[in-house]
Amino acid sequence: MALPKAEIEKHLNSLLPDVRELLDKPKEERIKAVFTHRFIKYPKAVEILEYLELLLSMPKQVRPECMLLYGESGTGKTSIIRQFQKMHPPVEDPFEEEDVIPVLVVETPFEPKVSLLYDRILYEIGVPYKTTENIVIKENRIEFYVNKLGIKMLILDEFHNILNGSASQQRKVLSAIKSLTNTLRIPIVLSGTRDALIAVESEDETKRRFFPKYLPKWKKDKDFVIFLKSVERTLPLKRPSYLWKDEKIIDYLLDKSDGILADVLKLIKHSAKKAIEEEKERIDFNLLKSVDFFDREFEKALEMKDV
Ligand SMILES: Nc1ncnc2c1ncn2[C@@H]1O[C@H](COP(=O)(O)OP(=O)(O)OP(=O)(O)O)[C@@H](O)[C@H]1O
Ligand SMILES: [Mg+2]
Repeated sequence: MALPKAEIEKHLNSLLPDVRELLDKPKEERIKAVFTHRFIKYPKAVEILEYLELLLSMPKQVRPECMLLYGESGTGKTSIIRQFQKMHPPVEDPFEEEDVIPVLVVETPFEPKVSLLYDRILYEIGVPYKTTENIVIKENRIEFYVNKLGIKMLILDEFHNILNGSASQQRKVLSAIKSLTNTLRIPIVLSGTRDALIAVESEDETKRRFFPKYLPKWKKDKDFVIFLKSVERTLPLKRPSYLWKDEKIIDYLLDKSDGILADVLKLIKHSAKKAIEEEKERIDFNLLKSVDFFDREFEKALEMKDV
């Protein structure tokens, strides 16, 4: 399809500057760029980032406001958290040996034990610890370093792992987190699938303290159009695909991905790769449909078989 020169010009201008510079590079380099992680902003992510920003700006307080970010697997929770962490990187303190770490991100251990959780926190802080040490000593050590390193927010990702434990283990982890909010006096952010919500809501006190924010799946609305437009600006393709304008493409993406962000991106990225390889330089409906795509359930089933 021949496109008017003005349309192509408009497309090139819409690409992010570093993406535009890639257009003259070899195919391999462009394909590599397609699969390189790059955070894409969309309204809901911006809303969550702004809320995190607000929490971070709050002064230390006895009952800090805390947040629970939850949503299905692959909706982009970890990406938002890592983006926030990137926006607040460690900074050198001219008067101290250690850097100031504004945001500490810790992955909740698969086996939800308080002692293992504290080990992970100390590991991420980057200080020596003994796994055999008493829980109280570990908690004191965490408090000491949170103050020393100026940690202003603690984020526990993959918090749904808490449901891997027994009811008693779950209660112990929840009460350890309550105790951390009290002693550290900084906001704690929990993030995970709906299981994280179930755990937090199982206790009145944690339920009251953690403000829930839901990261939804995509549906056919204005926000999805905005997202697709942002995605297209990151693809080093010489011609416009108009992913966001073509209703057939929008319906197909939503149907195939079941609205999961990770799968929408996977489909688009593999299509962009094909568009570069075959010198089509744009993703149209037929190209999109021709891309092999194993859905999440199918992949999960394969994983299960491998175990
Ligand atoms: N805003 C974004 N910009 C670019 N890529 C993203 C974005 N959000 C998610 N992705 C991509 O989607 C995939 C899944 O995202 P992520 O790991 O953040 O999901 P999650 O909600 O944490 O999933 P899980 O519950 O399984 O941990 C990742 O490969 C990531 O690169
Ligand atoms: Mg995650």
